[in-house]
Order: sequence, then C-alpha cells, then structure tokens
Amino acid sequence: MKKICFLSCHSLEGHIIDDTLAISELEKDGDYKVTSIPWDDEANWKDFDLVVTRTTWDYHKRPAEFVAKLKHISSQVRLLNSVEVVEWNFHKGYLKELEAKGVKIVPTEMFKLPGKITVPASWDYKKFIVKPAISANAYKTIIVKLEDLNSEAVTTQLHAGDWMLQPFMEEITQGEVSLHFFNKKFSHGILKVPKPGDFRVQEEHGGLISPFVPDAQLLVDATSLVEKVPFDLLFARVDVVNWRGTYVLMEIELIEPALYFRTSSQSVKNFKAALDKIFTNP
Ligand SMILES: Nc1ncnc2c1ncn2[C@@H]1O[C@H](COP(=O)(O)OP(=O)(O)O)[C@@H](O)[C@H]1O
Ligand SMILES: [Mg+2]
Repeated sequence: MKKICFLSCHSLEGHIIDDTLAISELEKDGDYKVTSIPWDDEANWKDFDLVVTRTTWDYHKRPAEFVAKLKHISSQVRLLNSVEVVEWNFHKGYLKELEAKGVKIVPTEMFKLPGKITVPASWDYKKFIVKPAISANAYKTIIVKLEDLNSEAVTTQLHAGDWMLQPFMEEITQGEVSLHFFNKKFSHGILKVPKPGDFRVQEEHGGLISPFVPDAQLLVDATSLVEKVPFDLLFARVDVVNWRGTYVLMEIELIEPALYFRTSSQSVKNFKAALDKIFTNP
C-alpha cells in the first residue's frame, strides 16, 4: 500500500471540493492510503510515498511562502505536481511564453503596479479584463472600460505587483471549457457557464457546470499543449474559451484544486491509473 498526502489548506469554507471521490477510489482496493494535510502545517513528509498539491486554495495570497514550503517538502519526498511546475505555473506570465511557442491565448498585456496601464497600439477593444498575474477563483478580476483604465476608482482597487490586461470576451457568457488530463492523458471535459449577469464561470460565483465532450481538433490542440509542458504532470486542466470562433487559452492550471471528479464516473479511475503508472515507472 502506498501512502499519499493530499496538500490542502486550513479554510476550505466557500469552496466546492470533490477530492473525496478520488480518495475513495484510491483507497477502495487497499492500493493507497490518503491523508490530507494543510500545506502550511508541519508533518513527517518522509512518511509518505508521494505528496500531491491538491486543495491549496489560499496559495495565491502567500505565493512565496507556498513555494518555499513546497521546496522543503520536496527535499523530503516526491511532490506532484513538482515545485518546478508550481513555480512555472503560478505566475501567468507563462501565457506569453506559450504564445511565443504558437499557442493561441487570450490576447494579453502584462503590466506592473504602481504604474500606468498601457493598451497596445494594435488593440481596438473598448472593454477589458484586469486581473492579477497570480490569482485563483477570479480573485480581484474586474471589467474596466477603456476610458476608466487609469482612473483612481480602478487603480485603488489593485495591489502593487504584476497584472494582466485582456480584451473582455463577451463569449464568456457561453462558457469556459476545462479539459482535464492525468499524467498528460485526457480524462474528462466540462463546460462552466456564468450565472446570468456575471462573467465569472466558477461555481463559487454561481457558475453552472456540465460535462463537455471536446471536438477532435480541440482535443488535439489541448493534448499538444499539455505535451509542450516540459515537466511530469500528475494533473493538468486546460481552460479555453471559444472567442470569435476559435478556442483561445485562458490558462493551463497545474496547481488546481478543482478537478470536477463528480462530473464523470471515469475521472477517478483515470486519476488512479495515472498514479499507478507513476509508481510503476517512477
Ligand atoms: N478576458 C476575459 N474575458 C472574459 N472573461 C474573463 C476574462 N478573463 C477572465 N475572465 C473570467 O474570470 C475568470 C477568472 O479568470 P482566470 O484568468 O481564469 O483566473 P483564475 O481562474 O486564476 O482566477 C474566468 O474563469 C472568466 O470567467
Ligand atoms: Mg481560471
């Protein structure tokens, strides 16, 4: 029996979590024993065969502390997704790196605060999304009109640090697709549709979740994206939006707590198969 630690956090209040489904599947035949521990607690990490980053919902508020702790943990035991993955993924600057490699992303301009928000000359958008480069769960994600971009009413809402400017995609009302991969193999897809009047798709903000089957081209593109990530990945979630007739990447989530196991009976089996493979070919 392999002992696995799922890293969690102290307050799960307000979050919808279905890792228990994965845990039941893993423990069902006695192949695995799973213990959940908040990432900022101390533990005998060496007691585990593997530590997995799971419901660490608050990492984006203390990113440096989070990475330091993951480094400590991975000095003791194997960690997936690894600390290298976390360091690459928690700051969304990686989107520009992927764009340079030919991935279609939501048009994105990075900027720093304090400082001025500048719209690229080639953009003719009138409505924007402003959001932190380190974020989760639509934290401080706001819609801003062109004329308000550098207004005090907007900038006083924003903290110092790295931010992103994107066109506001009206198509978000049709939903955001999330495709889940375990060990880089496709498992299951979902569609997240914001509640009427909102643009945030997360169910914590009233979004509606339903199973989604990607078409062949989307699956090929998402798989090739996951394969481009130069690290082992126990799990990956590719989030795309169909904008002006083309799927564009919103983000690739590699520190993601929400894997929507409940939307597919096969998902927990796929997750277990990925772990089995990791232990067979370490
Ligand atoms: N450019 C955009 N156009 C429309 N909606 C957006 C845009 N960027 C973000 N959103 C909405 O805000 C949510 C959160 O943004 P996202 O980039 O996914 O960050 P995170 O999930 O890390 O908070 C998205 O799921 C979507 O509902
Ligand atoms: Mg997101």
